[in-house]
Amino acid sequence: MPTFKIAVIPGDGIGKEVIPEGLRVLEAAGRKFGLSFELTHFDWSCERYAKTGRLMPEDGLDQLMKFDNILLGAVGYPGVADHVSLWGLLIPIRRGFDQYVNLRPVRLFRGVQTPLANRAPEEIDFVVIRENTEGEYSSIGGRMFGGTEHEMAVQETVFTRRGVDRVMRYAFDLAQKRKKHVTSATKSNGIIHTMPFWDERFAAVKQDYADVRTDQFHIDILTAHFVRNPDWFDVVVGSNLFGDILSDLGPAIAGGIGIAPSANLNPERKFPSMFEPVHGSAPDIAGRNIANPIGTIWSVALMLDHVGSPQAGRAVEDAIEKVCESGPKTADLGGKASTQEMGKAIADAV
Ligand SMILES: NC(=O)c1ccc[n+]([C@@H]2O[C@H](COP(=O)([O-])OP(=O)(O)OC[C@H]3O[C@@H](n4cnc5c(N)ncnc54)[C@H](O)[C@@H]3O)[C@@H](O)[C@H]2O)c1
Repeated sequence: MPTFKIAVIPGDGIGKEVIPEGLRVLEAAGRKFGLSFELTHFDWSCERYAKTGRLMPEDGLDQLMKFDNILLGAVGYPGVADHVSLWGLLIPIRRGFDQYVNLRPVRLFRGVQTPLANRAPEEIDFVVIRENTEGEYSSIGGRMFGGTEHEMAVQETVFTRRGVDRVMRYAFDLAQKRKKHVTSATKSNGIIHTMPFWDERFAAVKQDYADVRTDQFHIDILTAHFVRNPDWFDVVVGSNLFGDILSDLGPAIAGGIGIAPSANLNPERKFPSMFEPVHGSAPDIAGRNIANPIGTIWSVALMLDHVGSPQAGRAVEDAIEKVCESGPKTADLGGKASTQEMGKAIADAV
């Protein structure tokens, strides 16, 4: 039986409530498909930061390197600035492990209500591929003349041919396994250096994928199309910032942030990949056992896919859909179930 070593970082707030449900479903899928998982828990979080001044130890990445994959809940809590939690844990892992693909599926499950009128589940089923290591989220820049009326801030955006090409190629490869359509998010009318470069690379890369249909939209109208025409999309590729925005808008049209999953992938498998729900630590509902565990459970499905067991991943997705259709649901989906009741129902359905 293949055994996978998984580092588990529940983090803060509802991260600690949804991760046990993700693990419950992982174990159920393992039993069914003959996979075993060796789990190691880490307490890396804002709570740890408050005690030690660090979210993870200095050798954190060395420790994680020994694992096949990482399952993360959420980090961030009132009292610790959000940029501290992001740059103290998530971004070092994404960059240190060259997880350059951030994959975020958007799919309307049967039984889940969309805020869009008259849309059926099969009309909302696409994947946002966000560049995850460069782009607008660069640490190059600085501030000068602080506190004076000449105060200023500069932040550089970094697009490299290697970085742009590899994420676009991932999007095209994925589209070849889906509906063979890639949409590029751009803004080359307003951002006149990096975005025309992005467009040029898109035009060059698509030459190698004659069987894939392409289009591109400026980010402003693209957000409108997500709402008005979600059925136009299959794989949408965007820079770090544009992909980030689109991948929160996507879940908003498909049932809310509580169900949205994500994978931070190093496709070459030189480093561990990391799987996490899109949502944060939700301090407003933490400790009440009402958080929706689907974002985490669906992230587990993406992990099963990545370890080479797509049938196990599919079974978990099917179980999520079955429970959404006729099982216990948490309050954000209009039900009264607890986090655990929903997690158990999905594990049973697997
Ligand atoms: N990847 C991450 O770890 C991550 C992502 C986003 C935000 N954060 C951090 O989380 C903290 C809170 O951020 P926020 O409030 O902007 O975003 P959030 O995602 O934590 O919460 C936004 C809203 O959605 C609701 N919500 C989120 N997940 C839910 C779930 N599973 N079930 C039901 N409802 C859910 C919350 O109750 C809240 O009303 C901040 O410190 C932020 O930095 C972390």
